[in-house]
Amino acid sequence: MTSQDRTATANTAPPRSSACVPSLNAVSIALRKTWKKKWLTLLPPDLVVHLTHEWPFWARPDQLAPQHEDWFTWLVLGGRGAGKTRTGAEWVRGLAETGAASRIALVGETYQDVREVMIDGESGLMAIPRAKWRPSYEASRRRLVWPNGATAQCFSAEDPEGLRGYQFDAAWSDELCKWRYADTAWSNLQLGLRLGDRPRQVVTTTPRPTVLIKRLMGCQGHESDPRVHLGEQGEPRRDVPQ
Ligand SMILES: Nc1ncnc2c1ncn2[C@@H]1O[C@H](COP(=O)(O)OP(=O)(O)OP(=O)(O)O)[C@@H](O)[C@H]1O
Ligand SMILES: [Mg+2]
Repeated sequence: MTSQDRTATANTAPPRSSACVPSLNAVSIALRKTWKKKWLTLLPPDLVVHLTHEWPFWARPDQLAPQHEDWFTWLVLGGRGAGKTRTGAEWVRGLAETGAASRIALVGETYQDVREVMIDGESGLMAIPRAKWRPSYEASRRRLVWPNGATAQCFSAEDPEGLRGYQFDAAWSDELCKWRYADTAWSNLQLGLRLGDRPRQVVTTTPRPTVLIKRLMGCQGHESDPRVHLGEQGEPRRDVPQ
């Protein structure tokens, strides 16, 4: 295969299926950080460009969605700069590009956070895809539209009633612990998360001792919900400080 052929394949290749995710991530882990850099210098430049957009190759294992089927909420907890927003954005990108979800909710602390962080931020939905898969933002409808028709509607936790009337097959909630009307916004979101065979959501947040996060984590007297997957990154934080 010539370098030109490879470029053509890279540009026209369909979004990777989730079946490739564990193997690509395993290759990445096996290479380790220092070897990865050296290995990349041996590859043809167009293949390196292709790999740039292959999230499983760069992600830490805790940044990839659980591989087992039995989860509804994926809880990604971490400190400042841990890669939480990137994790949420990459999950949404994968669902939208593969068509696994097409009615997605993006919920942030404010509309501005949704726009500036989740969409236009350095780790946001506009920054991470290949050019031909970049969604467009329709400001008047507060939504992102992907080239294949998948949409992501923006919501602010300051306006929980705004979630009423919508239905989703996937949702991404960022910085849940900072939401002002967290209980109402969360419960309205849950009521709308009902489209398709397997609606699912990711929550990316720096933990704070809110009642809602304790409930989701099933700690401090709250019954644990088997459908909540607490990411590895979150394990040591099971005891949220009082
Ligand atoms: N696995 C990774 N490999 C390389 N870069 C990464 C990885 N994960 C995240 N990043 C990058 O690290 C930076 C911080 O990531 P991100 O914004 O997702 O962190 P965060 O936890 O949401 O931060 P904050 O606490 O400020 O909200 C971004 O530039 C992001 O693209
Ligand atoms: Mg963030």
